[in-house]
Amino acid sequence: MNFTPISPVVGAQAHHVLLTDTNDQVIAAIAHALLEHGLLLFRRQSLSDEQLVAFGRRLGELDFSPLAFVDGQKARERPEVLIVSNVKEDGLPIGVLGDAEVVWHSDNSYRETPLSYSLLYAVELPEAGGDTCFANMYLAYETLAPVLKARLDALEIKHDLTYNSAGVLRRGFAPVTDPVNAPGPWHPIVRTHPETGYNTLYLGRRPNAYVRGLSLAESEALIDMLWAHATSERFTWTHVWQLGDVLIWDNRCLMHHRTPFDPSARRIMHRLQFVGERPFNDPVAAQRGPHPRAQAPQTRRTDTHQDAETARGMRA
Ligand code: SIN
Repeated sequence: MNFTPISPVVGAQAHHVLLTDTNDQVIAAIAHALLEHGLLLFRRQSLSDEQLVAFGRRLGELDFSPLAFVDGQKARERPEVLIVSNVKEDGLPIGVLGDAEVVWHSDNSYRETPLSYSLLYAVELPEAGGDTCFANMYLAYETLAPVLKARLDALEIKHDLTYNSAGVLRRGFAPVTDPVNAPGPWHPIVRTHPETGYNTLYLGRRPNAYVRGLSLAESEALIDMLWAHATSERFTWTHVWQLGDVLIWDNRCLMHHRTPFDPSARRIMHRLQFVGERPFNDPVAAQRGPHPRAQAPQTRRTDTHQDAETARGMRA
């Protein structure tokens, strides 16, 4: 097995590995490569849910993402496997997030203990759209002005848990009228990755975010500026899915969003979630310098567009 960078911004592709057939050495290599690249792509996999769960359990502790359910959804066959889909059976959605755009977010940041990794396995795909884009938050942090980094070090954001990333109100919650009072945990804006020890910009999701101690107007201005920076094209890479793709990404250093797709098309993804840690800011981390994948990319734009075009061609 080997790993080759998939874009100058983030991620690597694993070669010569079947996730149905791993041993301790392969799992250790995958875990190491995830910390090195933030995201791994495995092509041409064929996995039953049992095999997916068996692989996931070897990699880490699985999480059941209880708040990811929506009203009127078909019961999950396996509690560890979350279905992300727009498909309905017997009039009921088989999964979550539908066919609309899914806004930029880091998975489950609305919990005190958000997820570490997420895994998506492509089971059925539309002909176009439904691409998943990733933003490298090591890179977003590294490219902030030193004076801004110092200011952010002491600040926390509240991560609203009222709506899911497709904008759907969660069961039992009232619409938010004032972000200052929205429900959700406080997390440091500068988050130290618990395994690599490098700092990242931890924004969670934009809707109803609020910086503790600022007026709402000041908070909005700061958060808007950070979001414009963090999601700038220089720091992002888009994955155009092929059937059988498995992507695993690290929510502690990446954000992601999904483009919309034709509601009459079918998209079915099987997802695993991995238990994470409570976010913290280690004062020593700021002295550590950039993560190896946080070198400002020079050629990314062209490369990424070529990657996406190639993948689209292969899917057509
Ligand atoms: C998600 O936000 O976890 C879903 C991403 C996708 O459907 O591609």
